[in-house]
Amino acid sequence: MGIWIDSDMGADDLFAILLVMQHRQVDGISLSFGNATLAQVEQNAVGAVGAFGWTVPIWAGADRAILGSVETAEQIHGTSGMRTRGVALPVGKPAFAPALPALCTWLESNEDCEVLALGPLTNLATLALSRPDLLSRIRQITWMGGGVTSGNHTPSAEFNAFADPEALAILLARNVPICMVDLDACRQVEITEADVSDVRASDHPQNELLADLLGGYLDIALTRGRDTMALYDPVAAAALLRPELFTFSSAHIATELSGTHCRGRTIVDTRNPDQANGTVISGLDSGNVRTLCLSALKENR
Ligand code: BDR
Ligand code: CA
Repeated sequence: MGIWIDSDMGADDLFAILLVMQHRQVDGISLSFGNATLAQVEQNAVGAVGAFGWTVPIWAGADRAILGSVETAEQIHGTSGMRTRGVALPVGKPAFAPALPALCTWLESNEDCEVLALGPLTNLATLALSRPDLLSRIRQITWMGGGVTSGNHTPSAEFNAFADPEALAILLARNVPICMVDLDACRQVEITEADVSDVRASDHPQNELLADLLGGYLDIALTRGRDTMALYDPVAAAALLRPELFTFSSAHIATELSGTHCRGRTIVDTRNPDQANGTVISGLDSGNVRTLCLSALKENR
């Protein structure tokens, strides 16, 4: 059995999906608003299919949060949700069928299911509300989201958590096992300009596209006066693929749903393992995780 990936298809989502595809079968990808609008995210998925020849079924999910808001990260990633220094994904015409029935069918036909969630959790919360009977089939959702110490979209909240905190709260309330690969963990795995050059010099058949997308992603940091950019979604993929490179701690995870400054903040309490409702990353082998994450952009296995 393969993995289900839920994604808002920005550049780091693409890098993460390529990494998973190198190591495991992907049974389906559901799309969500997030890095950009759902329409743009679908466009990015069509482009990835065109560029990389993916045959995995892709499905259209949520265009807004459970309570109806549409928060995107366009101010960081641009309206495409995926900055580039030149070569961009090819343009196509999206025609993806709805995600929820496909996700239900996948869960009905499998047990011990692994889900990699790389964006707002709206699609998975929608599943929890509409088919709670299927939740026991999920072994774990490995989610890039949240922050133990601080946020990025707001001072308090990480983007994927902030875009739909109610979705996270719904999954936690239903005791769905979540491994939260948070900002603090991901920020231990960074790229520099040398990595862009390495990808460009690699013999990956899409090296120019991948180098321009990695460069566009790095530019987010460079334009803000920093030399390095954290790899977010690929680190979550690495935690799922190579757990021996990580140290996990049981934790009680909660999210703030109100307040002027703290909406979407994740509160991680590791003091009482007997009250844990999830898992967080307490350590990682950053060198080997970095090598693993970048390998997907340099090798086409
Ligand atoms: C997360 O937000 C998105 O912009 C990235 O793709 C990643 O999933 C980082 O906060
Ligand atoms: Ca993402």
